[in-house]
Amino acid sequence: MQITSGQTVIADDSYLRESILNPNAKIVYGFAPNIMPNFTGQISEEQLVALISYIKALGPEPGTQQPSSSGTAPKNYGTEKGIAGPGATSISGSQVESR
Ligand code: HEM
Repeated sequence: MQITSGQTVIADDSYLRESILNPNAKIVYGFAPNIMPNFTGQISEEQLVALISYIKALGPEPGTQQPSSSGTAPKNYGTEKGIAGPGATSISGSQVESR
């Protein structure tokens, strides 16, 4: 993601931590500084860790996810015998009954 200085940063744990505690350290391109309040001293370490894991759980912006080796369905998902999915066929080759 691009920040005001022209640099690109990766939104990893340490970036998220810094952006919450001291949001002005790196400002996302298009945003003015000093809009988001500084959370240093406002939230506990435990709350900060919880926020970081929550934000990470939200996932990347739609359409920007890189293909991964795990958790991504194969291209032929649901079209092969024995693999469940739309249009799946049973092991015997007959079309699975649609409900
Ligand atoms: C616990 C509450 C909050 C959390 C966890 C949080 C978290 C974050 C994070 C992680 C970013 C960086 C986003 C990015 O890199 O795409 C960000 C940016 C921003 N936040 Fe917050 N935020 C909180 C509350 C607020 C509040 C209350 C305001 C405004 C009243 C605010 C305004 C902004 C703005 C304007 C930006 C973009 C500018 C920048 O990059 O610093 N946030 N926030």
